[in-house]
Amino acid sequence: MTELTPRVVRTSTLQEFKNSNHKFSCLTSYDFLTAGIFDEAGIEVILVGDSAADNALGYETTLPITVAEMIPFGRAVAGATKRALVVVDMPFGSYEESAQVALSNAIRIMKETNAGAVKLEGGKRSVEQIKALTTAGIPVMAHLGFTPQSINNLGGAKVQGRGEDAQLLIDDALAVQEAGAFSVVLELVPAELATEVTGLLSIPTIGIGAGSGTDGQILVWTDFAGLYPGKARKFVKQYANLRETLLNAAKSYRAEVTSGEFPGPDHSHN
Ligand code: KIV
Repeated sequence: MTELTPRVVRTSTLQEFKNSNHKFSCLTSYDFLTAGIFDEAGIEVILVGDSAADNALGYETTLPITVAEMIPFGRAVAGATKRALVVVDMPFGSYEESAQVALSNAIRIMKETNAGAVKLEGGKRSVEQIKALTTAGIPVMAHLGFTPQSINNLGGAKVQGRGEDAQLLIDDALAVQEAGAFSVVLELVPAELATEVTGLLSIPTIGIGAGSGTDGQILVWTDFAGLYPGKARKFVKQYANLRETLLNAAKSYRAEVTSGEFPGPDHSHN
């Protein structure tokens, strides 16, 4: 019997969720404070995505971020998390070369962050890496569909798996499952295909821009909290407008400092 609010979320918990058709939620986080809030809210998986590259470090894509840059983000998130499963992304260049390189970098990430799992991109091309990591006891979340580290090959953030490419995605999903991945992210995949893959796989699928048929959902936290100006992408639902809240707060603070209203007696020591 699946405990719907387990004390600690493990990879096996996500499997139990899938087996009992219980959907679960995932958010990214790159810092101690937001990770603590998401954990308290009951979010089951917190991903220290390499989207830290664009969301925390201001890089244009996820390609430049390194293992050394990912580690402090991972450590901060794992340090704040009591219940959620923390997964740290393996950045571009840290696993493609060989299973051995992937293993050394994954071991470093696990040791230095205290995360519960790592994530890497790619289907058949990443099978040897997934096998090496899982054999060494490191749980691996796979990532298919639009894989941001391949943005230069894919020609932008485009929906993947349409038409004849659907079968390639299905084959990749079966390959990562067979290699030992405990779950797979499906990013920017037609909803019908994501539902089909979810039915074919025994491991949980986690969708982002992949419709409602996956076992879990993930959003990048800066998207879900509305930190970006302008219109959000189609698959993003903004659950807050933090940009407006922070902008107004900063404007009020500045105005009060300029006018001498802050700090008043309430915020001054005798
Ligand atoms: O890095 C990231 O935030 C991700 C999610 C989009 C799944 O990989």
